[in-house]
Amino acid sequence: MEKLQAAIEIARRKRASQDGAADLRPAASAHVETPDPDQRAPAADPWPDLAEVELDRGALIRSRILSQNASMESTPFDVLRTKILYQMRQNGWRRLAITSPMPQCGKSTTSVNLALALSRQPELRTILFDFDLRSPTVAQKLGLKDAPSITPLLRGETEFADQAVRVGPNLALALSGVPDSDPTRLLMSDSTREALARVQTTYDPDIMIFDLPSILIGDDARAFLQHVDCALILARADQTRYGDFDSCEREVGEYTNVLGVVLNGYRRSDGKFDAIEGDG
Ligand SMILES: Nc1ncnc2c1ncn2[C@@H]1O[C@H](COP(=O)(O)OP(=O)(O)OP(=O)(O)O)[C@@H](O)[C@H]1O
Ligand SMILES: [Mg+2]
Repeated sequence: MEKLQAAIEIARRKRASQDGAADLRPAASAHVETPDPDQRAPAADPWPDLAEVELDRGALIRSRILSQNASMESTPFDVLRTKILYQMRQNGWRRLAITSPMPQCGKSTTSVNLALALSRQPELRTILFDFDLRSPTVAQKLGLKDAPSITPLLRGETEFADQAVRVGPNLALALSGVPDSDPTRLLMSDSTREALARVQTTYDPDIMIFDLPSILIGDDARAFLQHVDCALILARADQTRYGDFDSCEREVGEYTNVLGVVLNGYRRSDGKFDAIEGDG
């Protein structure tokens, strides 16, 4: 078994042995009356029990993932984080989709960088979901091999803790390791709605980020947008046509709130990039 699945399995066994120990306790006090609700121990925090993984710095650099530590290069994502948080808090929103008109605008790169920038805020808990189910790339960008499929989680067949991993204390990743050839129905289904509601109730994240496919290619992103509070649209300088951007913004606006637009790869007149500066 590869490292990531092995980490999930170890965490699962640990949880099972803790549950076993917990199961013994009521037997010893079976005659005790139902405790006063105010005296009950608070539910255990489930975050520490998620399997923890380390990220590979080399893979991060190769994929232009620059925001794990604060630096000049992470600044655009830190600014984006602050603006997004402000708007989402003002509106009481927790679920953010990231999409674009056409492919290759930088959605996944931005999703991962934003999630890592958020994870540097110790008081915040973030969950990043790879919801580009046909062509998932988040695991690969993070150098994580052998991620399990996310489909059983969305069908209600597995628990979040059996699928997700944790980076540090406050960022969880729901990776999609196995491409799904026809996920549209699943993305708009009640089982997906219920699975996300369960995750939100159990893990109480401050922000859930969903890396989606493009809007104008296929129906998957459109099918999923009903499940989020708002969406960020990525456009790529020198690539995204205005007509496509306009159609995308209108389509997204039919299903959710458009939080804003990121123009990725914009080169300033002094030759520098304003968005994600890369090495190629
Ligand atoms: N500002 C940038 N400068 C240079 N390269 C970039 C920039 N942003 C993203 N890239 C590169 O462009 C490619 C596409 O980025 P990414 O995978 O984030 O796009 P995407 O919108 O998620 O694509 P897809 O639609 O295929 O899911 C990657 O190789 C990424 O490293
Ligand atoms: Mg992508």
